[in-house]
Amino acid sequence: MKGLILSGGKGTRMRPITHTAAKQLLPVANKPILFYAVEAIKEAGIKEIGIIISPETGQDVRDIVGNGERWDLHIEYIVQDEPRGLAHAVKTARPFLGDSTFVMYLGDNLIKDGVKPLVDRFNAGNADSLILLKEVANPSSFGVAQLNGNGRILCLEEKPANPKSNLALVGVYLFNKNIHTAIDEIKPSRRGELEITDAIQRLIDTKFHVESHTLSNWWLDTGKKDDMLEANRVVLDEMSEFVMQGTLEGNTLISGRVRVGEGSVLRNCTVRGPAVIGNNCILEDSYVGPFTAIGDGARVSQAEIEHSILRENCQIKNFNGRIVDSLIGVNVELMRSQHKPVAYKFMLGDDSKVEVV
Ligand code: G1P
Repeated sequence: MKGLILSGGKGTRMRPITHTAAKQLLPVANKPILFYAVEAIKEAGIKEIGIIISPETGQDVRDIVGNGERWDLHIEYIVQDEPRGLAHAVKTARPFLGDSTFVMYLGDNLIKDGVKPLVDRFNAGNADSLILLKEVANPSSFGVAQLNGNGRILCLEEKPANPKSNLALVGVYLFNKNIHTAIDEIKPSRRGELEITDAIQRLIDTKFHVESHTLSNWWLDTGKKDDMLEANRVVLDEMSEFVMQGTLEGNTLISGRVRVGEGSVLRNCTVRGPAVIGNNCILEDSYVGPFTAIGDGARVSQAEIEHSILRENCQIKNFNGRIVDSLIGVNVELMRSQHKPVAYKFMLGDDSKVEVV
C-alpha cells in the first residue's frame, strides 16, 4: 500500500497567513500539520508516500518535508498544476500510484486515531474503498454521506445545501485501483472540480464495495484560523510529557504540561500549560497561558499571550493587553508605548508590524 498526501491548494480561507506559506505547513503545537499526516501513514506501516504540491507553495513543502529520510520513508513530490479537485489530484498521481492500493490523506486534516486501524481493516477485508465519517454540526461545509439502517452508504453529496445527514466525509480515504476508472467516468462539479466524493459515488453506482467507518474521536479540518487554534488546543491538551531543555531564570513559575526547547531562556515569567515554547526563544517578564504555542526564535518581553499560535522569530515587546485567540505569522513585531490593559484578537500575516500607541 502507498500513501498519497494532498498538500496543494491555495489556502484562500487562511489568508493573509497563506499568502506566504502553504496552509499544510502551519504549525500545530510547533509542528507542521503535514508532519502529522506523514507520521500517521508511517505508523500504519506504509513506506512510500507521494505528496501532491502546487506550483505556488510546492518548493516550501519540499524544503520542509524533504525526501522522507528523517522518518525512514521514501517521499516523492507530484505537482498538480491547478487546484482542479481531489479526484484530479489522484489522476495526476496515477504514475506514482500504479495499481497499488493507497490511503489518501488531506494534508490539512488531523485525526486522533491515526490511520493504522483503518489500513488494517482495509487490508483484511474485500472493500474497494473505505471512507471515514464523522458527525458534525455544519454538514453543508463538507461531503455528506447518507447511510441506511444497517450502516450501508446510500449516497454521498459534496457540500449539499440541504444535507441528508450530519455525517461529514473526513479527509482520509482508502482505495484500490478501481477508483481510477471511477474518476475517469465523472465530470467536474458545479465548482468546476473533479470531486473525490463524486468518484466514490460512482464506485457505489457501478456496484463496487464501499465501506464506511464513523469516527468517535476527534477530527479536525484546519481550513480556517479558528480551526487551527482548535487543533492547537486539542493537540496540546493531549501532550503528556513535561520537557525542559531551556533555562529558567529569576522568578519564573511553570505549571502544568509545558515543553521548552533548547537554547530558550525564560526570565521572570509565568507559564501555565499545556503550552510549547520552541528553541532559542527569550521570554522576559511575561505570561504564557494555556493552549499557546510559541515558535523558535521568539523574543517576548512584558507581554501576555494565551490560546494562540505565535510563529517563528516574532518579537512582542511591552505589550500590556493580553493577546488571545490569535494566529501570528513569521517575523511579526508587536509593540506598544502606553499601558492600558485590553484584549486583542489578531490574524496577522508574515512580516506584519502592529504598534498600539
Ligand atoms: C474536502 C472534500 C470534502 C471533505 C473535506 C474534509 O473539502 O471535498 O468532501 O468533507 O475535504 O476536510 P475541501 O475542504 O477541500 O473543500
